[in-house]
Amino acid sequence: MRSSVRKSADATAATADLLVVCVPAPPGEPTGPVADVDAALGGVVAGAIADGEIDGKPGSATRFFAGAALAAPRVAVVGTGGGSADDWRAAGRAASGISELAPTRSVALVPPADAGPAEVTAFIDGFGSAAYRYDRFRAGDEDRRPPVERLLVHSTAVKGSDLKRADRIVAAVSGARDLGNTPSNHLTPTMLADHAKELADGIPGLSCTVLGPSRLEKMGAGALLAVAQGSDQPPRMIVLRYRPKAPARPGEVLGLVGKAVTFDSGGISIKPSSGMEEMKLDMGGGAAVLEGAALVAALGLPVELIAVVPATENMPSGRAVKPGDVVTAMNGTTVEVINTDAEGRLILADALTHAAREGATRMIDMATLTGAIVVALGEVYAGLFGSDEDWTSLVREAAEESGDLAWPMPMHDRYRPLIESAVADLTNSSNKRQAGPVYAAQFLREFTEGVPWCHLDIAGTGMVGGKGTGFGVRLILAVAERLATPAPL
Ligand code: BES
Ligand code: MN
Ligand code: ZN
Repeated sequence: MRSSVRKSADATAATADLLVVCVPAPPGEPTGPVADVDAALGGVVAGAIADGEIDGKPGSATRFFAGAALAAPRVAVVGTGGGSADDWRAAGRAASGISELAPTRSVALVPPADAGPAEVTAFIDGFGSAAYRYDRFRAGDEDRRPPVERLLVHSTAVKGSDLKRADRIVAAVSGARDLGNTPSNHLTPTMLADHAKELADGIPGLSCTVLGPSRLEKMGAGALLAVAQGSDQPPRMIVLRYRPKAPARPGEVLGLVGKAVTFDSGGISIKPSSGMEEMKLDMGGGAAVLEGAALVAALGLPVELIAVVPATENMPSGRAVKPGDVVTAMNGTTVEVINTDAEGRLILADALTHAAREGATRMIDMATLTGAIVVALGEVYAGLFGSDEDWTSLVREAAEESGDLAWPMPMHDRYRPLIESAVADLTNSSNKRQAGPVYAAQFLREFTEGVPWCHLDIAGTGMVGGKGTGFGVRLILAVAERLATPAPL
């Protein structure tokens, strides 16, 4: 879908298959475009408001047939609630729902005069995200309507560049969802690396380096290699770098690290078979990091960044890492592998070390790391852990604003006994069924080389109902936008 601006705010003259106008909650008397539509349709909108059918609640939508009274044959009156970004995203989703009721190739949005770029961007985000389908393997599906091609925004308060940015956000989130939804036989670590190279090829200032087994061996990335050794697919450490021409904070480098286990069988500590197919989604963190980094670069934000995505399968085989094995991570730490299904923290350990050593001055990692975070926070909030108060509160605020929500979780030295091993420096899993997500975060912290760091456990938010959500892309953008201004003194 492509969005473009139309200067005319005359809703009655907007030509499209579907016209969208917006009412707040409570709706009050129709004003602006809603009043124009109401007048042209002989008062039916005011009538529906008066009898309570239209209440302006976010996510609500009412459809009218316009006949010849308007340039558009159908109108959707969507609720924008209290006007928050979340409300506008809900309005966009509701409009998309109406567009699917009949063949619709073009949609005209005539927002109220006080809606600016933030509101329209959130609408487009919601609209585009709701229209997302993963149909790569359902090409001949006759029942599906062709998607909406054009969104025309009739407003003088937004510019073409605002809409281009909004379209790019939708495309990046959809890209991350596609990666998640792609079955593991169609998205191996090597294919993910090829995808990252393609992303980098199209964007000025963005470059991609891919490290394979021999390089990883030379670097001593023993934790990533240990997870990968049970699979016939070679691992890849994917590194994207973005160097803007004039960084807002010279010397600062945002490090993004994302777990990309393209299939997590559990390894020798194999998972139960029921639901195991969902473990093709165990690369949602890596997908968000690749697409988020590429989005920041495509938008030309003045933020230097390095993205490191360790990609591997976790498989059982005669060569697989076994419970009780001791492996040596890139930073020299020895780890007793008690449970081969706690593979995410192992591959992230080497990736965090690599990002820090390659110059990251603050880091965020995103990972579908623990089932326990799903139990604790469900599909709504990701778990947020951090080693630095200022950095963690910046990330938390960015999360809130972006809609990719994250809630602070504790870390404390008193949790340290959980990660202690009798035979090595650390263990990757404890037999105590306690504080699973904290345990994992406490483990990761050991590999951050003292760089301010946040960890997002997205096991609940990154996959919902067996589908990839693209969680994290909007958050990365919101964080980068905060770093795109000169540092406060
Ligand atoms: N990828 C899983 C975590 C996961 C579980 C993500 C459910 C999404 C939904 C991770 O690698 C894993 O297996 N974690 C184990 C850790 C345990 C062995 C310490 C878990 O959560 O059970
Ligand atoms: Mn696992
Ligand atoms: Zn996993």
